[in-house]
Formats: sequence, structure tokens, C-alpha cells
Amino acid sequence: MNRRVFLFGLPAAALSAFGYVRFLEPRWLEETQKTVATGRGLRRPLRVAHISDFHASALIPISFLEEAFRRTLAMHPDLICITGDFVTTDNDFDTAKYETILQMLSAKVPTFAVAGNHDGGSWARRAGWLPTSRFIREMVARGGVRVLHNDAAQVEINGQRVHVVGVGDWWSDELNPGQAFAQIPKDSAPILVMNHNPDGKEDCRLYPWDLMLCGHTHGGQVIVPFYGPPIVPVIDTRYAVGLNQYQNRWIHTTRGVGNIVGVRANCRPEISLLLVS
Ligand SMILES: [Fe+2]
Repeated sequence: MNRRVFLFGLPAAALSAFGYVRFLEPRWLEETQKTVATGRGLRRPLRVAHISDFHASALIPISFLEEAFRRTLAMHPDLICITGDFVTTDNDFDTAKYETILQMLSAKVPTFAVAGNHDGGSWARRAGWLPTSRFIREMVARGGVRVLHNDAAQVEINGQRVHVVGVGDWWSDELNPGQAFAQIPKDSAPILVMNHNPDGKEDCRLYPWDLMLCGHTHGGQVIVPFYGPPIVPVIDTRYAVGLNQYQNRWIHTTRGVGNIVGVRANCRPEISLLLVS
């Protein structure tokens, strides 16, 4: 009996574990909500949706991203921030469909974005993909999303001004905080900075910001019980996932919506709503 259980039970358990990490968990979106106190004394908390790392590809269909966007809008955000990695490689996504679903977001809520290492630049060029992020940035802009590539913008939400800064990707050697922060006038409004890779925080250390939004790590993507994630593509793993304090400010690193290689384990895809006060 024990031998029969071993012979049939073990392969069945392995098959269902594979089915879960390959087909169920990567599509099992989790909506999270976190409170961020900046000390700026906002009259009403800003509802900032933070989404990232869509990785549109043969593994991540546009229909799944559309579902993620619909659920993002259902959280009633005042502002949407997208922190890069719109694609994985250079040719396995439908540009026209992508623009259409991005318009779903931008038509309803002010939406801002930065590029990630997969979106083009020196890192992607070495992998044989897009040599520059210009193509993806232009596609995203046609989706009505304001791309801040070492640039900044101001938005007025419920009578409160907010500065949104976006920097280029650190791995792509495109992070230029001097250029980005030079666009901000000196006032007391809160400053959000979008920075794909949390390791880029040190380059932004001397600039004034209250909350940094990052992606890139996918939260580890695969978390082995009692061990943790075998692969985390950052140097400073303290900021690999979640909301963490950095000096006297905050860094939020989302687990992201998509993934690479098609599996997730104990690390569900995430849509975050940050209540920033
Ligand atoms: Fe990514």
C-alpha cells in the first residue's frame, strides 16, 4: 500500500504543484493596501495605485493585463504610477492592443510611468533586445500615459498639489536624477519618485523625495518555504519587496503584475493601493 502511494501519489503531487506555480498563482492577483505617512500634512490621503512589471509576452497575455487594469481602476485611485518592464523581449507583444488597454487607465485617472531594464537600453541591448527604451516609451505615451524619463510633472488632486518624478533605469545606465529633480519647483508639496530598480535609490539619495516607487524584483517571484527567494536581482535585498523606511522616507517595491519564465510560488502578482498622507 505504502509503495503504491509512493508510486502514484508522488507524481500526482508533483504535477499539481507544477500546475499551481505555472498556471494558477501567476494569474492570482492580490490587491494590497498600505498607508504611507509622509509628514506633509495632506488634508486627505492621496490614493496612489502602484502597478509594475507587466512583462507582456507569450507568457503574459494582454487579456490578463486588461483584468489587472480593470481591478486597478476599481480601487478608485487618484493617481496611477507604473514602474517599468512593460515587456520582456522586443517582439512578442501586440503594440496596438497594448496601447488600447493603457488608454483604459489613462482615460480615467492621471497615469505616469517610467521604463524598466526590459523596455530597452544598454542592458536589453546586451540581451539582444531593444537597444533603446524609446520604442516602448512612445508606445506607452500613445496609450495616454505620461512617461517621465528623467523628468517631472505636477498634478492637482482634490486641491492638493503633488510632484511626480520619474527616473531612467539603473541597469540601463539611464538614471539621471539631477535632470529629473531640476524640474521641480521648491514648495511643500509631497514628492513621489518612480524608479524601476530599488538599487537606484542611492543615486537619488541627495534629492528631496517622500516616497519612492519601485518594481523590478517581482518580490523574488519564487519563494521557497523556510529559505526565501533563490534569485533576487538586487544588491540591497532589504528593499526587494514591500513598504520599507529609507532614512526618513519610504520606498515601496511591488511584486508586480507579470513575471518572467512563467512561474510564481508563494509570491502572488500584486496591485497596490497606497494611501499617502
Ligand atoms: Fe521585471
